[in-house]
Amino acid sequence: MRLTAPRGTNDILPDAIPAWRALEAAVHAICHRYGYQEIRTPVLEHTRLFQRSVGEATDIVEKQMFTIATREETEDESDSLTLRPEITAPVVRAMVEHDMLKQRGFWKLYYVGPAFRKERPQKGRLRQFHQFGVEAVGSHDPLVDAESILLLADILRAAGVSKFEVRLNSIGCEACRPAYRAAVRTAAQERVERLCSDCRRRIDRNVLRVFDCKVEGCKTAARELPAIAEYLCDGCRAHDAGVRGALNDSLPIRVDTTLVRGLDYYTRTVYEFTSPLLGAQDALGGGGRYNDLVRHLGGPDAGAVGFAAGIERMLIAIQASGSRVAPAPELDVYAVSVDGGQRGLLFEVLRRLRDRGLSATMDFEGRSLKAQMRSADKLNARFALILGPEEAARRVVKVKNLRLQADEKEVEVSIDDVASMLAGR
Ligand code: HAM
Repeated sequence: MRLTAPRGTNDILPDAIPAWRALEAAVHAICHRYGYQEIRTPVLEHTRLFQRSVGEATDIVEKQMFTIATREETEDESDSLTLRPEITAPVVRAMVEHDMLKQRGFWKLYYVGPAFRKERPQKGRLRQFHQFGVEAVGSHDPLVDAESILLLADILRAAGVSKFEVRLNSIGCEACRPAYRAAVRTAAQERVERLCSDCRRRIDRNVLRVFDCKVEGCKTAARELPAIAEYLCDGCRAHDAGVRGALNDSLPIRVDTTLVRGLDYYTRTVYEFTSPLLGAQDALGGGGRYNDLVRHLGGPDAGAVGFAAGIERMLIAIQASGSRVAPAPELDVYAVSVDGGQRGLLFEVLRRLRDRGLSATMDFEGRSLKAQMRSADKLNARFALILGPEEAARRVVKVKNLRLQADEKEVEVSIDDVASMLAGR
């Protein structure tokens, strides 16, 4: 029986690794450049973490969570665990759990890792996908929102995504949103026959979700609903102006008053990076401010803002941009045994090479000289070490520089000296 990976999950095979590594290297370098520190949290969390943060009446919590019932020896019989569908709530949970905001009032954290959503798989939409993201927690300053946007733009440029756009909106705060929500509810009720069953149900529970419903009828109805801009309080208005002022035309930004994002924790700033290089799933990444979440999860009152981007979608966009493909990593040495009789001695030589910090491997299948040279090539080796019975008797080895074409590329070196000679190259 041949088994396959579950639908919507991908194996990342060795040939694909250089592109992943290159993107991850850009993420680490640029997050560091902006003063962000890495954090890693478990892929499993208590289900109620996401119910309380992402929101009960969102697609993610209603339909997309991989939840595992557990029978723990806890009093809480209803305890269940969920594979994280996103990483913001876990990061905030960790910060509160470890009292991080008592040690320092402001943290800039970033992460790279898998997330899971039970969606219908299609191009750019997976059930296990990978995100990188940042969370700046402990400041209400609009400059932090702007900085997070600039950071994501820098990563996109460094990674070689040639075309993207930023959509920006403010969705208000708990002071001004209730009046806005009421106005949207009234307008949605007037258009109820045009809404899908989910959206009809959400009119009372969470009416702003109508804005990110993907059903065509709901999308056209959403365009007729009131815009938040007229309802923003003075504080939200000033914040929004602060964010836009700091970005100062440095990026292709479009204000989009229908942008609400699919998670409930946002306050004030929301933004999304899209690219025409992607298909229907055109969001490279998105984020915004979530000033109430830390408090809702048991922490202090702390302003926060962040984003997450999808690595698989970034890789699609990088490839569609025609950016240079990351080269396969080099192997320093591939050791070749002429007739199989020298493998024991080569094994010793490999140990000395590795002690010197060189990467090295050899044939373990007893194949022909030609086949071994092909392996050296496939593994992108810089040097082949060739050992036959005659060389072994003299304790020398042939060193062939695989980067040179000419005949003089082969030299003979004593087995005792070969490691130090190659370490110097
Ligand atoms: P999100 O918009 O749900 O936000 O996800 C961020 C990004 O993850 C998306 O723009 C997309 O690139 C990628 N993504 C999401 N779902 C899938 C999927 N099924 N397959 C492939 N890629 C996917 C969040 O997750 C928030 N936590 C962002 C945030 C951070 N807000 C504040 N801080």
